[in-house]
Amino acid sequence: MLPEFRLEKFFSEWEFQARHHLTASDAENCPLGELLENPSELLELRLGYIPSEGGRELRQAIAATYQNIEPDQVLAFCGAEEGLYCAMRALLGPEDHAIVTLPNYQAMEELPLSICQVSGLPLRAEENWDLDLDELRRLLRPNTRLLAVNFPNNPTGKVLSQERWAQLVEIAREARIWLFSDEVYRGLERDPAHTLPQAADLYERGLSLNVMSKAYGLPGLRVGWIACQDREVLEKMLKLKHYLSICNSAPSELLATRALQQGSRLLERNRQLTVDNLKLWKDFFMEHPEKFEWWAPEGGCVAFPRYLGHEGVESWCRRLLHEAGVLFLPASIYESRLGAVAQDRFRLGYGRRGLAAALDALRAAL
Ligand SMILES: Cc1ncc(COP(=O)(O)O)c(C=O)c1O
Repeated sequence: MLPEFRLEKFFSEWEFQARHHLTASDAENCPLGELLENPSELLELRLGYIPSEGGRELRQAIAATYQNIEPDQVLAFCGAEEGLYCAMRALLGPEDHAIVTLPNYQAMEELPLSICQVSGLPLRAEENWDLDLDELRRLLRPNTRLLAVNFPNNPTGKVLSQERWAQLVEIAREARIWLFSDEVYRGLERDPAHTLPQAADLYERGLSLNVMSKAYGLPGLRVGWIACQDREVLEKMLKLKHYLSICNSAPSELLATRALQQGSRLLERNRQLTVDNLKLWKDFFMEHPEKFEWWAPEGGCVAFPRYLGHEGVESWCRRLLHEAGVLFLPASIYESRLGAVAQDRFRLGYGRRGLAAALDALRAAL
C-alpha cells in the first residue's frame, strides 16, 4: 500500500478554494481554441479507443522534440504520473537498489520505496542545491539499478550545469544503471542556453519523462510520455499501462499534438512569463530581508525560499491561507523517508499570470 500523497491531498483540499494560488507548479494554461487552427477537426473526431502507445501523429510530434529518438521510442501516458508509476514498476524488483534526489516530488521516492531499497541523494541549499557527484558515487552499490533525478527541480528550481549533467550521465553509464530523468519543467530555464540535453538522447539507458502539464501549461490534457532508446523497457511499461489507463483520451491527444506542432511558441511564452514574474518576486524579497532568504531559481516555475519568522513556516502558511486566502506549500509537504529536508522553507510558484495582484494581497497580509 502506498502512503498518502501529501502534496496531492493538500491540493485536493485547497487548490480550488484559495483566492491567491501562489504555489502552482504548472505554467499559465491557454484555452482550447488557441491550440486549433481548424476547430472542426475536434468536432469531427471519433471518440473511439486509440493506440495504447499513443497515436502515430502524437508520437511523431514528441519525437521531433528530441535529437536521437524515433516515434516508436516514445510511449504516451496519462500525465507524467502514470509514466512514473510504470517506469518504476518496469525497471525495479525487490532485490534492487535505487538512488533518488532529495527533495523530490513524492511519487519519485514512494514508488521505488514500495518495491526495493532506496537511498536519498540530497541537494543542499548551502551548495546552491547542486548535486554532489562524489556522494552519488559513494551511494552506488553492486545492486543499484536506477538513479532518478529531476532538473529543473521541483521544488528548488535547480538546473545542473552542462558539465555536471554530462558527468552524471557518465557515472550512470559506467555503473550500467538506468537514468530516470524527470524533465517536466524543461523549456522554462531562465537562460535558454542552460537547457540540458535530454537523458533519452544522451544515454542508451536513459528515460526522459515529460508531459504537457508543466512547461507547456496544459495539465488538463493529462498527456505525458517517456522517451527511451531501449525497446524492451518500452514494452514492459506498455504491459503495465494496459492495466491502468489502457490509452489516452482521443481529444486530449489531438490537442497535445497540435500544441507540440506549434513548436516552441507556448514554451517561449511561458518562459518569458517566468522571467517577468521572477522580477516581481525578487522585488518582494528585497523588501523583507528579515523575513525571508531568497535564492533565485535557475529553471522551472517553482522556488523554495526560507522563512525566517519566529512562528515557523507551517503556522505562517496556515495563517496566510485562512486569513488572506494566500496558498503556499509548507516544507512538511516535502518531508522524506530517505533523509532530512529543510523544515523552514515553503514552495512558491511563478509561472502564471496575475502575480502582481496576488503579491499585493500577500503584502497586505504581511
Ligand atoms: C517533478 C514532477 N514530476 C511529475 C509530476 C506529475 O505530473 P502530472 O500532473 O502531469 O502527472 C509533477 C507534478 O507536480 C512534478 O512536479
